[in-house]
Amino acid sequence: MSEVNFDWLNQLPKIELHLHLEGSLEPELMFDLAKRNHVTIPFKTVEQVRNAYQFDNLQDFLDIYYQSANVLLVEQDFYDLTWAYLLKCQQQNVMHVEPFFDPQTHTDRGIDFETIINGITRALNDGKNKLGISSELIMCFLRHLSEEDAFITLDQAWPYIDRIKAVGLDSSERGHPPEKFSRVFAKARELGLLTVAHAGEEGPAAYIRTALNDLKVSRVDHGVNAIHDQYLMVDLADKQIPLTVCPLSNTKLQVFSDMSEHTILDMLSRDICVTVNSDDPAYFGGYMTENFVAIAEALSLTKPQAKQLVLNGINGSFTSKHRKQEMLDVLEGYCSSSL
Ligand code: ADE
Ligand code: ZN
Repeated sequence: MSEVNFDWLNQLPKIELHLHLEGSLEPELMFDLAKRNHVTIPFKTVEQVRNAYQFDNLQDFLDIYYQSANVLLVEQDFYDLTWAYLLKCQQQNVMHVEPFFDPQTHTDRGIDFETIINGITRALNDGKNKLGISSELIMCFLRHLSEEDAFITLDQAWPYIDRIKAVGLDSSERGHPPEKFSRVFAKARELGLLTVAHAGEEGPAAYIRTALNDLKVSRVDHGVNAIHDQYLMVDLADKQIPLTVCPLSNTKLQVFSDMSEHTILDMLSRDICVTVNSDDPAYFGGYMTENFVAIAEALSLTKPQAKQLVLNGINGSFTSKHRKQEMLDVLEGYCSSSL
């Protein structure tokens, strides 16, 4: 078997289930949008921005991430943001994406919900038609805000509900357990939406349990702290609950002090349905390929393991049976000629 290298991983057909569109805002686009929209940002150069991306924890990152989103004002900005991400996906052979967006980050600044969703979905449609990248959109509630605020956001989303596949939960995890949002998630499920939630990134394994039991999530975003609860690990494996793991994010935010400590392959070997994702690639040092490369270098990823990680993503995705089969065929075709 030839070695796992950058080219093989870049060519590997992939799928992304954990990506915050706001987290794909590259410094170059941030400067362009700041200029176009006459918004002042506290940086003079792209290099200065990149140097500022050193984080001790999740909150450290979120402070800068929410501030950067101030450059997004009109529909075209949301289109450009999403389109830039899709072009990156094309370069890295990503077949299907299920991105998150955080409407409250923008509506709290006076931007209409319609502006945000129109820009994003116009780009996602172009992604399907021009690049062949399929997608399902996930709307996240910010967990540091109240459940009442989340209800208002769900109301705003109602006219566009057919463009949204699922609701999610993100932002500051500690002190904001999933059960804080039980009622709004129940309402979302009544409306026909699927549910996911960030849980067990910085927060305890108990948050993964309540995400599953109270919010009835189909997938857990991150979920790496499950490793501290052996009963939960067995449950996750038995039920094949997908965990959308983000290796570069986890080291950038000090969830693991070094990539060599990352437990993604231990979890894989225990039959947990782990997947590889990029989270906030503009902030954490890379997109899908770079995340695969990072674990390949630090953890000696094999080709069969890489294939299984993609397979888990396909199985855990919210797309149709037909599209899943298409992607399985593409993956099989690639791996049978190169494994
Ligand atoms: N929002 C953007 N990235 C996030 C992360 N890694 N955890 C929680 N909220 C987020
Ligand atoms: Zn995330």
